[in-house]
Amino acid sequence: MKSYAVLPALAVAALAAPTEDIEKRATPHVYLAGDSTMALGGGGTGTQGWGVYLPYSLTGVTVVNDAIAGRSARSYTDEGRFTTLINTVVSGDYVIIEFGHNDGGSLTPTDNGRSDCVGSGSETCTTAAGVVVQTYVTYLTNAAKSLIAKGAKVIISSPTPDNPCETGTCSYTPNRFTGYCKIVVANAGTGASFVDHGQYVANEFISLGATVVDSYYPIDHTHTSPIGANVVAAAFMKGLLCANDNLAAYSKNTTASIAGSCI
Ligand SMILES: *[C@@H]1O[C@H](CO)[C@@H](O)[C@H](O)[C@H]1NC(C)=O
Repeated sequence: MKSYAVLPALAVAALAAPTEDIEKRATPHVYLAGDSTMALGGGGTGTQGWGVYLPYSLTGVTVVNDAIAGRSARSYTDEGRFTTLINTVVSGDYVIIEFGHNDGGSLTPTDNGRSDCVGSGSETCTTAAGVVVQTYVTYLTNAAKSLIAKGAKVIISSPTPDNPCETGTCSYTPNRFTGYCKIVVANAGTGASFVDHGQYVANEFISLGATVVDSYYPIDHTHTSPIGANVVAAAFMKGLLCANDNLAAYSKNTTASIAGSCI
């Protein structure tokens, strides 16, 4: 007779479980938001974005590459692409955000619709046409906070380096966007993390040397070949594993199996 007392509790538990499952996907989605260095098709013929190779290193997740060539933190925002992502993610999903290549440049005399207002806080700039432009930090902080509010985890990734060996000697100095990325992560708080992708790629490229690395940049100093992009994707995984990021739980590879050292 004791078991009758237990049954209702079990029945409630059985009913409650599916409700919780509906909020998460059986297979979390990993959305990629970025520019040509991440996008399918890269920056044109002979190049490819690193996001195309990321799925080969992950298991138990579905990678959705929403990176688009030519975009910046500002234009990705203005085109409603972050809003679409915010409306799409569910609890347990991941969003990797990597911008910087189209965010520099001046707002005067001509605004290209991509350049951000320079600054590490909530500064604004007004273009000649009267458009109010926010900083990289503001655009990405707003996006990250809204994605996290939906239950997603956000990885802010520093931009890939331009060819660090283009002078014949390999060296790398991070640009201001790496610092901005760290500020975005601090602003967004729990649920946001940082991968210093630029530094991991640079370290790997410097160890490969100028001859190999020059061959990875077939058309200019920004866009990598498919083989180069595969190395760029591996460097991201190395950074993710070294940081013991939540997403690293879905890695097919161990930290030691990927070239390079943790920084
Ligand atoms: C991880 O392992 C998979 C399966 O062996 C392989 O295809 C992929 O290239 C590896 N990734 C890295 C970054 O080494």
